Amino acid sequence: CGIVGYTGKRQAYPVIIKGLKRLEYRGYDSAGVALINDGLHVFKKKGRVSDLEESVVGENIGGHTGIGHTRWATHGEPSDRNAHPHTSQSGKIAMIHNGIIENYAQIKKELTAKGYVFKSDTDTEVLLNFIDDIQQKNECTLEEALRIALRRVVGAYCLLLIHKDDPETIIAARKGSPLVIGIGKDEHFLASDASPIIEYTKEVVYVNDYEIAIVRPDELILKNLGNEKQTPFITKLDMELAAIEKGGYDHFMLKEIFEQPQTIYDCLRGRLDAVHGNIILSGMNQYAEQIMNAPRIIILACGTSWHAGLVAEYIIEELCRIPVEVEYASEFRYRNPVIHKGDVIIAISQSGETADTLVAIETAKEQGAIILGIVNVVGSSIARKSHAGAYTHAGPEIGVASTKAFTAQLAVLTMIALKIAHEKGSINNERFMHLCKELADIPEKVALVLTQAEAIKVLAEKYKDATDALYLGRGYNFPIALEGALKLKEISYIHAEGYPAAEMKHGPIALVTDTLPVVFVATKDSYHEKVVSNMQEIKARKGRVIAVITEGDTISPTLADDVIIMPPADEIVAPMLSTIPMQLLAYYIGVAKGYDVDKPRNLAKSVTVE
Ligand code: G6P
Repeated sequence: CGIVGYTGKRQAYPVIIKGLKRLEYRGYDSAGVALINDGLHVFKKKGRVSDLEESVVGENIGGHTGIGHTRWATHGEPSDRNAHPHTSQSGKIAMIHNGIIENYAQIKKELTAKGYVFKSDTDTEVLLNFIDDIQQKNECTLEEALRIALRRVVGAYCLLLIHKDDPETIIAARKGSPLVIGIGKDEHFLASDASPIIEYTKEVVYVNDYEIAIVRPDELILKNLGNEKQTPFITKLDMELAAIEKGGYDHFMLKEIFEQPQTIYDCLRGRLDAVHGNIILSGMNQYAEQIMNAPRIIILACGTSWHAGLVAEYIIEELCRIPVEVEYASEFRYRNPVIHKGDVIIAISQSGETADTLVAIETAKEQGAIILGIVNVVGSSIARKSHAGAYTHAGPEIGVASTKAFTAQLAVLTMIALKIAHEKGSINNERFMHLCKELADIPEKVALVLTQAEAIKVLAEKYKDATDALYLGRGYNFPIALEGALKLKEISYIHAEGYPAAEMKHGPIALVTDTLPVVFVATKDSYHEKVVSNMQEIKARKGRVIAVITEGDTISPTLADDVIIMPPADEIVAPMLSTIPMQLLAYYIGVAKGYDVDKPRNLAKSVTVE
């Protein structure tokens, strides 16, 4: 979910709506605002922020203090009733919440026994009435009631509350879900990330877990749950407004796909010196020795970031000869994993806020592992919880389906592998220099791949009516097949599966008919001949083969119905190229089918619930 709050001299409503639109990538099931303007006014609506805007035409939306929310449903279906803000039974408090209250059922039971009646199915309304009940019982301030309530709460939250009788104050609390406060002149902005704030101020405070913020136009007080004041640590945002706008493209996703030559370049800049054979990752220096000597590396991530982890497994094992395990963070955290002191955990996350990944690294940290964060969002929770790390520097990624963050993750992970391998001596200098050069050439080669966008658009028209698709690859390209299938599912709602090309014989081959598109990621590498054999197996069963191949390959075109041609590249860096046609194919099919590719149904970009 996305959260915005404002208190100050401006009208709150426009600031909140604009902010919510910037945060819509975090969820878009429903949206709502609460404003203080001669009383408390709440407007909420199922659907997008634009639906909310339409629904308030003619209403009284004035006021200088307010809170707003865009929702990704957890408890309760998306509906007007379950949309946030919720109001307390007394009608005095409005609250929005990002996260999950795990012990809400017990609290709800207690409140129901006291006569509380609930208007929604949400855990949020339960917490709100719990706070309200405490305030009435103890005749205390809202802040005090919130503090008492939070001591009882199990779960994750970022909360914003406003009270009818205290018209200039927003009270906020965080545990597990992000909250940034922007500091202006006699005004404050609150949001789930910096994007709603950036156009007003660059001075921000990241609220920590278990902190409560009391925010007024001219005052920001931070306290811990023990009511002790904390000193707010002011950070300067290093982000431009242009980075979060569409800049002439039809969709953020397309813009972000096309930004990749630049974002990969930005990621390598100042770190990779291919001429002298040097890789500088200053965020890892302090732990360089431990990382180099790690007996084992465990990579934790979710979704697309997990696919980047799989590619890294192949690269690190090949170059560094260190055993690597890649796990879904959600599985790892609940299965009492074996962690030895000295194990290095690499956590990969675009947002740096994914709840499963965040908790997984906390678990591993407690058991003595060293945590290396590969994160895109600067100052995010995972970045702050890691011992060491490297930012991917891809800039804000707004499209819900990850594209440029993925290739930047691959670039960082390749640099890490190369650095370890070079320092350990597990590859010789010649190979090291060659791979540094290959990596440095990637931005230019990505630009070349992008020149085929129009041709891929034509393919999208041809294949858009497929009901299923299979994506196959081997070795370094196997995770790219998984990622290709994920992109298609996310954006075009076509059922797709990614498989290791050889494993296809053990099941998926049963699906092959003359209507099934089979995408082969078949660039020239040490697995190539084997992949070609698999292509033959599909062709023999009349499957429709789309092959991503390397320039100069003469065999694949005789087997494929359609080909997409990649410039030659070493197999270690090739995934950064072969993933581009996967992104474009999914994008153009999604657009051809008339779907909202930037905000695919049911998804959210930053999943801060487990
Ligand atoms: C969500 C997004 C995916 C993303 C995954 C992990 O499911 O829709 O695109 O890959 O979360 O997110 P992270 O921010 O941790 O990389």
